[in-house]
Amino acid sequence: MDSMKSTPSTQTMKTQSTGLHGQIAGKTRLCTVGKSGSGLTYLGYDIVELAEHCEFEEVAYLLLNGELPNASQLNAFQEKLMALRELPESLCRILETLPADSHPMGVMRTGVSALGDLEPELNFSQQKEVAYRLLAVLPAICVYWYRFSHDGVRVPTQTSEPTIGGHFLAMLNDEGISDLHRKVMHSSLILYAEHEFNASTFTARVCASTLSDMHSCVSAAIGALKGPLHGGANEAAMDMIEQWNSPDEAEAGILSMLERKEKIMGFGHAVYRESDPRNAVIKKWSQSLAEEVGDTVLYPISERCEAVMWREKKLFCNADFFHASAYHFMGIPTKLFTPIFVMSRITGWAAHVFEQRADNRIIRPSADYIGPEARSLVPLTQRTH
Ligand SMILES: CC(C)(COP(=O)(O)OP(=O)(O)OC[C@H]1O[C@@H](n2cnc3c(N)ncnc32)[C@H](O)[C@@H]1OP(=O)(O)O)[C@@H](O)C(=O)NCCC(=O)NCCS
Repeated sequence: MDSMKSTPSTQTMKTQSTGLHGQIAGKTRLCTVGKSGSGLTYLGYDIVELAEHCEFEEVAYLLLNGELPNASQLNAFQEKLMALRELPESLCRILETLPADSHPMGVMRTGVSALGDLEPELNFSQQKEVAYRLLAVLPAICVYWYRFSHDGVRVPTQTSEPTIGGHFLAMLNDEGISDLHRKVMHSSLILYAEHEFNASTFTARVCASTLSDMHSCVSAAIGALKGPLHGGANEAAMDMIEQWNSPDEAEAGILSMLERKEKIMGFGHAVYRESDPRNAVIKKWSQSLAEEVGDTVLYPISERCEAVMWREKKLFCNADFFHASAYHFMGIPTKLFTPIFVMSRITGWAAHVFEQRADNRIIRPSADYIGPEARSLVPLTQRTH
């Protein structure tokens, strides 16, 4: 093995063990991460501007159609999505069989997968319709299962709320939505909609490159997003901050976690080096929501975590950290945080599937072999180990 250390193939192997970070794995016109303006753009538009001025449906339309809609296009798009919200009866029955302690991301994956059999994408000319259907139906997949398994209620999957974020909250809470909550949901869904070749999007593209169907690509992506190093970080951040009662307790807690070399969820990023542009936007909303609910604990704790992590490790909050307190202040159960990410990122995933299909070659990298030398087969009866 020593002689292998200096070979070119082991140098490549070292690169591969860094998770392909920094390597160009394809082209996209959808998004830049860490390159210009605030550091994150969708089809040339700065994320901060989009989050400040747009409704989520405008950004969904942008990603799925390549341009922002005008007012009548937006109206027609929202009406179309509203008409596509109902769950098929058979999907309701499937969701009813999933236990209350299922992982909600597993429920989302199962819902999308089942829909792929109930309403298959028969050819790629249907891809946009399929993407619209998924965008419209994902909040209901999540909340129908949640309310049935936790409250014993078969919640109606149609509401009068015209927006996706409002519709999700209305199904969850059986009540009207405040303007503040509607706005926060727009911003949050916009921030999560797209992020270049992140793990789940790359998974979707790999699946698309085999010419598989949209539901398979999205199910695969949900599986990748489920992991705590990717989409699960907002839930993990919530579990962490709610165990503390004061900023001082939080500071002591963070310091001892760092001493034990534990990862602090909601901090750091594989591409951004100094800040995540999504953080300032969601942090501002978290502060407004804290004022709305009269919080004097969780928001100050979150701010202290941010300060300590920067002071100790020069690590900054990523998009997930202040999402934890923001969602909590809106009364969203922690286990539904990551499914909201799915309701948003479906737009980016679908747009990447369109892009992959439009210029496809199967994605099939190679590996550096690090296994045993070639050896002779010993017949079964002669194997002594
Ligand atoms: C996002 C993440 C996976 C990126 O990983 P990465 O690209 O390997 O991170 P970096 O190369 O910047 O890490 C540099 C150093 O900081 C440490 N570090 C990075 N994020 C950290 C965190 N959240 N808590 C503690 N230490 C962290 C790493 O362990 C590494 O230390 P080392 O050099 O002693 O090994 C990583 O920051 C992480 O696990 N964060 C927590 C999970 C999270 O919030 N995910 C959501 C991402 S949007």
